[in-house]
Amino acid sequence: MTSSLATVAYIGATILFILSLGGLSNPETARRGNLFGMVGMTIAVLATVLGPRVTAAGVPYIVGALVVGGSIGLFAAKKVQMTQMPELVALMHSLVGLAACLVGFASYVDTSTVFATPAEKAIHEVEIYIGILIGAVTFSGSIVAFGKLSGRIGGKPLLLPGRHWLNLAGLLVVIWFGREFLNAHDIASGMTPLLVMTVVALLFGVHMVMAIGGADMPVVVSMLNSYSGWAAAATGFMLSNDLLIVVGALVGSSGAILSYIMCRAMNRNFISVIAGGFGGGAPAPKAAGGAAEPQGEVSPISAAETAELLRESKSVIIVPGYGMAVAQAQHTVFEITKLLREKGVNVRFGIHPVAGRMPGHMNVLLAEAKVPYDIVLEMDEINEDFPDTDVTMVIGANDIVNPAAQDDPGSPIAGMPVLEVWKARTSIVMKRSMASGYAGVDNPLFYKDNNRMLFGDAKKMLDEVLGALKA
Ligand code: TAP
Repeated sequence: MTSSLATVAYIGATILFILSLGGLSNPETARRGNLFGMVGMTIAVLATVLGPRVTAAGVPYIVGALVVGGSIGLFAAKKVQMTQMPELVALMHSLVGLAACLVGFASYVDTSTVFATPAEKAIHEVEIYIGILIGAVTFSGSIVAFGKLSGRIGGKPLLLPGRHWLNLAGLLVVIWFGREFLNAHDIASGMTPLLVMTVVALLFGVHMVMAIGGADMPVVVSMLNSYSGWAAAATGFMLSNDLLIVVGALVGSSGAILSYIMCRAMNRNFISVIAGGFGGGAPAPKAAGGAAEPQGEVSPISAAETAELLRESKSVIIVPGYGMAVAQAQHTVFEITKLLREKGVNVRFGIHPVAGRMPGHMNVLLAEAKVPYDIVLEMDEINEDFPDTDVTMVIGANDIVNPAAQDDPGSPIAGMPVLEVWKARTSIVMKRSMASGYAGVDNPLFYKDNNRMLFGDAKKMLDEVLGALKA
């Protein structure tokens, strides 16, 4: 393939990636968006492998790597449970970071590149240094995020004494060794500062994500998504590959926008989340008189009674959470929705921006179950409607419906906007026990007078409710 044909292919792939991102912004066009992305990636890979920079001798290695990597990806995608998706995504981000590091070291030891001027060489070395820096932070941060999301590492933030000073010291070390690296006369003497910086960056990535509390993990997930984009862009600079630069920048900037949206949705300050310590640790002293301490008795309800309440309702709002994903209850939820709508009940869904374990988690599950998009509403669109609602069904959700976020300034989730399900005439919470959610905080909703608890696996209980509704 000639170099101009490869450039045309790269431009085509870039356009497809932009269309893909546009498509993914809406559930109705998401499938098309994915398709554009897949076609774009196929064109990009073919144009690179068949392009002018790959020699015939290199093709077998690339094909071998494609087969091995592609098979692992296919196996992982087929085997992964929907609830393990966020962990898989975190693991994928770590691979982008690792790739950026490896490409960085390879470019540094590669003596085949001839630089026209010393400035050109210096720019290339800056690219290598920054590329490895971003890659190492992304790699170790994503591994820790994987550990936290999969429950292998506890959700509580690790707050080392003087952690901000530690971060600052790390930054100064990175800058100092950056200077050493650029001043090095040969590869051997440049390798030491490069390795020291890599170790510092790896430690920084671990420290950064370890310091973030359970409820703030969504921000970290999208932030690491953004970092992986910048790591890919850095790799593009090191390899002088325009497409990788553009795609990396697209992923990097869209991830940054998503992090911002997540922060806004959770009423968090981005810098405070990154600096760590949010969303966990020792609760602050409670405000005088106002703190909501869960107390009292919970009132259980049976599946048959739930069906009775639903049958008598005019309006119902369903609030799904992580437990619906665990139980894979979305199809039964759809069956119940269909039945109630046929009986003239106004059924709608309220989706919290951080419900589940990844952005859009609930939307994906409901779309998979064929729930119509027009009855699936965002938190801001539906929150004012709870007082006019007969029944809210909370299916495996906890943190996102916790009134302590509003009432208890000492709560680790204080200030996070929540779905005000308790304002409906009756709220029914479906979960297996009194256990807390991801943020590890008690939920006063369970003890409210108008709340009922339907204990059990969401799928099993909803099947019973469906059976009772049909009877
Ligand atoms: P959670 O607060 O985690 O609550 C889920 C509840 O589902 C649990 O209390 C659990 O109670 C219940 N559950 C689990 N398996 C169940 C099953 N088979 N049947 C019925 N119930 C089941 O979830 P949420 O309300 O969706 O809130 C999301 C949380 O995750 C937030 O804290 C958010 O910050 C965090 N987070 C979100 C993301 C993104 S991007 N969405 C990423 C990382 C973290 P039982 O054990 O008693 O059943």
